[in-house]
Amino acid sequence: MNSNCVGVIGGGLMGCGIATRFALAGFDTVLIEADAARVTQITSTIDTILTELIDAGSIEAARRQAVHASMIIATSIDALADACAVIEAIPEILPAKQTLFDQLAALLAPQALILSNTSGFLPDTLFAATAGRERCLVAHFWNPPHLIPLVEVVPGSATLPAATEQTTALMRRIGAKPVVLHKAIPGFIGNRLQFALLREALHIIQSGAADAATVDAVMTASLGRRYSIMGPLEAADLGGLQTLLNVGTHLVPELSSDLQPLDVLREQVARGELGRATGQGFYRWDAARIASLKQRRLDYLQEEQRGQNRSEPHKENE
Ligand code: NAI
Repeated sequence: MNSNCVGVIGGGLMGCGIATRFALAGFDTVLIEADAARVTQITSTIDTILTELIDAGSIEAARRQAVHASMIIATSIDALADACAVIEAIPEILPAKQTLFDQLAALLAPQALILSNTSGFLPDTLFAATAGRERCLVAHFWNPPHLIPLVEVVPGSATLPAATEQTTALMRRIGAKPVVLHKAIPGFIGNRLQFALLREALHIIQSGAADAATVDAVMTASLGRRYSIMGPLEAADLGGLQTLLNVGTHLVPELSSDLQPLDVLREQVARGELGRATGQGFYRWDAARIASLKQRRLDYLQEEQRGQNRSEPHKENE
């Protein structure tokens, strides 16, 4: 087993970004993609990711060559035999993932980590029949993985604590910010928070109180700024918990408690307005909007670059 070799399976949206992170951190990175047509596009996808990081000043242009040189793109998982960890990033189809884990369990060294980037399956479901479940767990990256540092590390009931620790150490080596859940819950943490917020955003639009642009402006000009330096619970302490309780007592009953996706979303999907992919969602995705988003991403990266040594939140007992 080579402790500097990591595998990523699935050269799609997530796999390419995750593999790029590992290659940038100096790992020999093996990216497995089953679809031959997709294989031919992967180098250019990775180039686009690197260009964004270079334009933002996050990495030197000279590193482009080294990243490509440290990455092997293959179609068979046999190329992963030496890896110390493999991250699965194939589509969210349970039997396909489980078949892959069986193959990996037979191929990899017994101590090698088997990690899944699943969005929603719980580790005990994913690895129910995998031999050697002690080294299997979820490592959930966020899109785009080269920009969002969070990785939710979710051990299953059979995962050894040492495997969880090795996974968090691995994520730190690539400059990611791992968090470990005490208990696996559907959606982990990030998607639960995201969907709670999204449900209320859709509820506001559906009620006619405001349009999509107004809801988004409220988010980016207030909570978005606050949440980039502190989470909702630290912010609650600052606002005062008595005030939070007073406001919550009359406000919480007013919030959406819908148990299914809201009609406003269903109707949009039924019209074929699926967002950027179809050119129309809550917004019209013309060239000007796409260019504006690209610029905002670049501004964000440059800002992050300037604030590279930003202080971390205080951790108790440290
Ligand atoms: P994707 O569809 O863009 O990429 C998946 C790739 O895996 C495709 O290129 C496909 O050809 C390849 N593939 C399928 N079976 C394979 C196999 N057996 N061996 C090798 N390659 C195989 O999917 P995406 O969006 O990258 O998602 C991958 C996983 O990450 C899913 O579980 C998804 O739920 C999760 N995820 C997705 C996020 C997103 O925003 N798209 C965010 C976080 C997690």
